[in-house]
Amino acid sequence: MTQPEPLPLLSLPDSHVDAVELGGPRFQTEPAQVYQELRQRHGSVAPVLLHGGVPAWLVLGYRELLQVTGDAALFSRDSSLWSLWSHIPEDWPLRPLIGEKQESILFTVGEVHRKRADAVNEALFGIDPFALHDRSERVADALIDGFCERGSGDLIAEYARLLPALVLAYFFGFSDREAQEVTHVINDMMDGGETAVRSQAAFYTACRELVAAKREHPGVDATSRLIACSPTGSEEEIVQDLMVMFSAGHQPTAEWIGNTLRLMLTDERFALLLSGGRHSVGWAMNEALWEDTPSQNIAGRWPTHDTVLGGQQVRAGDLLVLSFAAAHTDPQIRPDPAASTQGNNAFLSFGHGVHGCPMTGRESAETIARAGVEALLDRLPDVDLAVPEQDLVWRPSPWMRGLTALPVEFTPAPKTPDEDGSWYSADA
Ligand code: HEM
Repeated sequence: MTQPEPLPLLSLPDSHVDAVELGGPRFQTEPAQVYQELRQRHGSVAPVLLHGGVPAWLVLGYRELLQVTGDAALFSRDSSLWSLWSHIPEDWPLRPLIGEKQESILFTVGEVHRKRADAVNEALFGIDPFALHDRSERVADALIDGFCERGSGDLIAEYARLLPALVLAYFFGFSDREAQEVTHVINDMMDGGETAVRSQAAFYTACRELVAAKREHPGVDATSRLIACSPTGSEEEIVQDLMVMFSAGHQPTAEWIGNTLRLMLTDERFALLLSGGRHSVGWAMNEALWEDTPSQNIAGRWPTHDTVLGGQQVRAGDLLVLSFAAAHTDPQIRPDPAASTQGNNAFLSFGHGVHGCPMTGRESAETIARAGVEALLDRLPDVDLAVPEQDLVWRPSPWMRGLTALPVEFTPAPKTPDEDGSWYSADA
């Protein structure tokens, strides 16, 4: 593990002098091993350095994560409490992730957060689960139609990374055309490449225009309900919360679909069952959350007082990064890492406590992901990896776990008869 050069003017506290960087190739290739080494060296809370040598604490222990996420008064979600903001350059790439100057629900606290969370829940609660399932299947079919006759495809670029955004956009009230455009910009924004900043602005504009349109002409969509339930009516707050619902809903669900399909295509236990039955889909989805949770590490929480956490002295205003991935292999809860997690829903992938993923979000994610995996296996029953398993590449990110591509091959299959025209076009 490497030690990055510290940012100018930032002197490291004694606790972090030998800390390792949260990043680099090993988080891509063998994250579980890295967490194990950190745990052996530091216990359940480890000093780490973020990009540019910025000190933070990585909470690795399952019990400590419950403690942190369960005590919102001591471990606040208010990013303005971070003691290092004055040292952080304007162009520091993790600024958006840590949440400076964001007015979204993610970084509000206390009573204000409770009211905003109620509005988000109300907006999502109005999505009919049967309609969500039907739409997910329909979008899945349209996407599969895009490559089924070819006999090959990339299940990340052509499927998993499109499905949740297209489904959510529909329920948020975007038109089909707008849904395709917004899906493109959200993926580009999350890729973090050269056009990411432009795409972020385009995503903001799309959400802002939708909110303005729904204020004028409310409909039966989640955006209209979010506006109606907003505790302040502030346009900026509504736009920010819509963006959180969309981005927090799309990306992890897309990775969950991809990671589940990878598991089913590479692990003999599932390969044998692929054509066999749908019950193995639930098993694989559960195991994908335990072993390759999309939400690996999340920033963050900020202690409001000096305190001791997992044996480490942490100071008010320190940055805590929550490692859900590490907690999933904590020997305190999984003494035998090889033992099956089947039927065990105690994973922390969706967080915990008042800032955890809303139940309506979890249920929507599960409906979309399950429909996506099942539709693919139904339509392409002999689907198989087109490359050796060891050639699959994970994204180089310590934050989200997902593949860069999942190339497959299968017997070419016919398109579905489309009852009302081909509404999905891959090159929108
Ligand atoms: C596999 C899919 C998903 C995963 C793994 C996931 C994970 C998470 C996690 C870990 C958090 C907590 C962040 C923290 O503690 O700081 C969170 C928050 C949130 N998620 Fe999800 N999520 C998923 C799907 C969704 C979906 C489909 C939606 C909505 C359509 C959604 C909406 C939200 C919102 C609004 C929050 C903010 C809650 C708050 O701060 O009060 N999520 N999610």
